[in-house]
Amino acid sequence: MEQRVSIVTGGAGGIGGAISRALGARGDHVVLNDLDPAAADATASGIRAEGGTCTVITGDITDDETVAAVTTAAAGISGTIDVLVNNVGDFRPASRDLAHSTPEQWQRLYEVNLRHVIAMTYAVLPHLGPGSAIVNVSTVEAYRGIPASAPYSAFKAGVSAFTKSMAVELGPRGVRVNAIAPDLTDTAQTSSAAMLRGRDEELVPLWLPLGRFAEAEDHAGVVDFLTSDAARFVTGHTIPVDGGTLAASGWFRRHDGKGWTNMPDRP
Ligand SMILES: NC(=O)c1ccc[n+]([C@@H]2O[C@H](COP(=O)([O-])OP(=O)(O)OC[C@H]3O[C@@H](n4cnc5c(N)ncnc54)[C@H](O)[C@@H]3O)[C@@H](O)[C@H]2O)c1
Repeated sequence: MEQRVSIVTGGAGGIGGAISRALGARGDHVVLNDLDPAAADATASGIRAEGGTCTVITGDITDDETVAAVTTAAAGISGTIDVLVNNVGDFRPASRDLAHSTPEQWQRLYEVNLRHVIAMTYAVLPHLGPGSAIVNVSTVEAYRGIPASAPYSAFKAGVSAFTKSMAVELGPRGVRVNAIAPDLTDTAQTSSAAMLRGRDEELVPLWLPLGRFAEAEDHAGVVDFLTSDAARFVTGHTIPVDGGTLAASGWFRRHDGKGWTNMPDRP
């Protein structure tokens, strides 16, 4: 089988970093895009040290020039693009609630969470062949409300809706489109240290049915599966990778009256 060419946006760190390493380890040529040149080079070096191949394209994926550079680099390797992982996303810039947010924040949240997913998908369309797979990174908050981040959840719900529509559009070409919905993952964006600040770590098993926060690798395994032949009849779905939180979840008013929490720490 020919070596797959796989794009990962935000592929240097966090969930994207784990996805880049997993796809590199399975033998793909990873086209790794990231804002952070040092982190991108470190992840690429790690992939190469394990015998893999990797091309780094540094740049902000919300810029159309970066979208074009990533697509040109990937298409130039063998002519086809086999995998696109649209991983970049962020709940920031955040605000206390919608009343304290600004139109500038909504615009940035749109650019960081939804627009580039559409732009990257549009750009790679001519290079996708039968067997190609797209995986978008959504969030459990596409399904569950998240106070103080309503625009973020709206745009991520947009990612999951876009996933469904593209699966229908591209199905006849043999291209599959799926998404994952992470929750509570220990990354720079949502470090477990920050999530636990002022809270009792012993309560973690009470908050998540599987009893721990997610690691980036938990998501990489599902993305690896979704791009593989084992998932050849799976398309149009967003797979929660959440340790059971959607099954069990709820937001609760904080005991001190200061906002909301999904990790209650008092009766
Ligand atoms: N961490 C969580 O608990 C969690 C939960 C739900 C959904 N998600 C989603 O998972 C995805 C990855 O999150 P993470 O926690 O790994 O994030 P992170 O901030 O820890 O890592 C993001 C990576 O993308 C890079 N990046 C950021 N903005 C970029 C841009 N504009 N262009 C190119 N590269 C950029 C960063 O340099 C970094 O390497 C996001 O879409 C996020 O919304 C994360």
